[in-house]
Amino acid sequence: MTDQIDAHIGIVTVSDRASRGEYEDRGGPAIREYLDRVLTSKWVEVPHVIPDDKEGVASCLRRLSDEDGCCLIITTGGTGPAPRDVTPEATEAVAEKMMPGFGELMRKVSLEKVATAILSRQTAAIRGGSLIINLPGQPKAINECLDAVFPAIPYCIDLIGGPFLTTDESQIIAFRPKKK
Ligand code: MTE
Repeated sequence: MTDQIDAHIGIVTVSDRASRGEYEDRGGPAIREYLDRVLTSKWVEVPHVIPDDKEGVASCLRRLSDEDGCCLIITTGGTGPAPRDVTPEATEAVAEKMMPGFGELMRKVSLEKVATAILSRQTAAIRGGSLIINLPGQPKAINECLDAVFPAIPYCIDLIGGPFLTTDESQIIAFRPKKK
């Protein structure tokens, strides 16, 4: 019964400087706080802070999916145009299916806040039983982007055979089509 298992959720901060301890990771804690506030079903985090290295990011995503059984993996950082920004490429490298609608919607809502949202190549993908979603590195982008896409996340996870996620409806109403 998958709905009795605590959901494992990967939280991956992709940042050369945070991984070297040169600055505090603010993205990972912001994702954790968001999930604590929104999810009412039980979940456990599997956190990582890693450098902007394509193979390293890809192998972290593979491990979170294949070994740790994460139904959801959220990355923050490395989505822009700079030479070391490779998170979308690493996501694509491990993807079985791309889920471009997530990036499209997150950019749409972000562009209403900041003109530089166009610089984020953030995307999403399915690998096995995992939905992988990229967020930009700015901590304030985390709430803006997750608020936009979160209503569709629980049903997406149902469709890939994951645990039944429930939300605090005063925060986010998860949309599940009515059974016929
Ligand atoms: N999206 C939101 N919602 N809020 C932001 O502040 N910053 C933008 C963009 N998307 C931003 C945003 C900027 S300045 C950049 S460079 C890109 O995300 C890529 O950021 P990243 O390389 O840290 O992932």
